[in-house]
Amino acid sequence: MTNRLTINADRIKGTINRNIYGHFSEHLGRCIYEGLWVGEDSPIPNTKGIRNDVVAALKQMKIPVLRWPGGCFADEYHWKDGIGPREQRKRMINTHWGGVVENNHFGTHEFLMLCEMLECEPYINGNVGSGTVQEMSEWVEYMTFEGVSPMAELRELNGRAEPWKVKYFGVGNENWGCGGNMRPEYYADLYRQFQTYVRNYGDNRIHKIACGPNSDDYHWMETLMKQAHRFMDSTTLHYYTITGDSWQEKGAATGFPEQLWARTMKKALYMEELLVKHSAIMDQYDPEKRIGLLVDEWGTWFDVEPGTNPGFLYQQNTIRDALVAGITLHLFNQHCDRVQMANLAQLVNVLQAVILTEGEKMLLTPTYHVFNMFKVHQDAQLLDIHLTTKELKSDIDDAIPQISSSASIDASGKIHISLCNLDHLASAKVDLDLRGLTNENVRVSGTTLTADSVDGHNTFENPDRVAPAPFTSFAWDGKLLKVDLSPMSVTVLELMTD
Ligand code: AHR
Repeated sequence: MTNRLTINADRIKGTINRNIYGHFSEHLGRCIYEGLWVGEDSPIPNTKGIRNDVVAALKQMKIPVLRWPGGCFADEYHWKDGIGPREQRKRMINTHWGGVVENNHFGTHEFLMLCEMLECEPYINGNVGSGTVQEMSEWVEYMTFEGVSPMAELRELNGRAEPWKVKYFGVGNENWGCGGNMRPEYYADLYRQFQTYVRNYGDNRIHKIACGPNSDDYHWMETLMKQAHRFMDSTTLHYYTITGDSWQEKGAATGFPEQLWARTMKKALYMEELLVKHSAIMDQYDPEKRIGLLVDEWGTWFDVEPGTNPGFLYQQNTIRDALVAGITLHLFNQHCDRVQMANLAQLVNVLQAVILTEGEKMLLTPTYHVFNMFKVHQDAQLLDIHLTTKELKSDIDDAIPQISSSASIDASGKIHISLCNLDHLASAKVDLDLRGLTNENVRVSGTTLTADSVDGHNTFENPDRVAPAPFTSFAWDGKLLKVDLSPMSVTVLELMTD
C-alpha cells in the first residue's frame, strides 16, 4: 500500500512553540558534572568551566529552553548552598542519584551563565518538597531583583550586579512522588501558597508552573485544575517510554529483541492519548487555552549500560530512540494549541541524551540528529495535514501506523515536512498531495536518518555510524510528491517555491 499525506499549505492550525524542542538537565549522574561542567582548570577545552564542544553542539541544535536543577533533585536542592566562592560551598549527598557527593560547584550563577552561552531560556525548578516559602521567594529575588534588597546585594557580592531575566519557574517537581508524596488536594493548596511569593520584579515576568500529573493520573490533573487553575500559567506532565514490564526491568537500550521495536513505538505513541485526555480536563477550567501543558520530562528510559552506576541512568541511544523522538515531537507539534513546552530527559549522559561524553570525547546521538533536523519547526506555523497510512501488525502488541508526520511553514515561506517510517523491516512509499500552494514551481530537498540495525548507534570509536544524509528518493510531478522512505528512518523535506 502507498501511504497518502495531504498537506493543506493554506490552512494554519497554530504556532509551534520553539520550547517544544526544549531540554532538561539535572544533578544526576554525569549530566551536569562532566557533561556540562568540567571546571575552569580542566584540560578539556572550556569557557569559565563549561565544555566548549557541548555548548557548540547545543547551539547548533538551537536549544530553546533548559530546565534545571531537577527532577527529584530539585526538591532536595537548597539554592544558597550553590552560591559564593566554590571552594567554600557546602557538600551534600545526592540521595536520589547514586548517593554521591554533590559539591555544589554548579549553582545558580553557573546555570544562568550556561543559558547565556547557549542563548536559551532558563527554566528553574524550585523546591516545595523540602524547602520553604521564604527560600523559594528569596531565590526569585536573588535572580531577578534590581535595586536595593538583601538578595540583590548578596548577588552583587557574588559578582553579579545585573539581575538575570528568568521567565520559567516551576513550583515543585513530581510532588506526587519524590517531591513529597503528596495528595493532589494538599499540593494544590501548597502551590497556591508558594506561588504567591514568586514575585515579578521590575519588568521580569515569571511564568508560573504548577507540578502536574504523572502519566495517566487524571485525578491529579482534575484536582489541581479545580483548586488552582487561576494561579498558574502552565502545568506539567511526565511520561517515559519503557519497554519492559516494570520499573525493575525496563529493557535494554541496545541488543534488545526485535519484537520490542513495535512495542517501543506503541508506548511512545501513548503520549497522544495522554495529551488528549489531559487537555480535555484542562479545557473544562481553561477553555481559552491560556494555561500551557508542559511535558517537562519525556523520553526513553532503559536499563543502564552494563558496568555503570545504576543511580546514574546512563544509557546508549539508538535509531529506535531517534524514532521515539520523531514521533513524539510530531505529537507535540500537532497539539501545539495546548503543549507550550516539552523537555527531553535528559541533555547529556542521562536517559535519552542528545550528547554522550567520555573524558574529552563527545558524540552526538541519533536523538540529537532528530532535534537538529526538526529545528526548522521551531516557531513555525503548523499546517493542516491528513494522513492515510498502513497499519503494521505485530504478534505481541496492537498495530502501529507505518508513518507519522508533521508539516509547518516558516516565516520565509519554506515548508518543512517531517516523516517517520516506523517500520523497521520495510521501506515506505508516501504520496504527498500538496494543496493550497500559491506557486507550483517547487524545489525540494531533504535530509534523512536511518541505521543498518534496530539498535544502530554511535560510539566513541565510531561516532558517525548513525548520521544524517541527503535524501534523494523523491519525485515531484507538479501535483504529487512521491517519496520512498528507508526502513526505520526519520526524514525532513524542505519545499521552496519561487
Ligand atoms: O529524569 C529522571 C527522574 O525522573 C527525575 O528526576 C524525576 O523527576 C523523574 O522521576
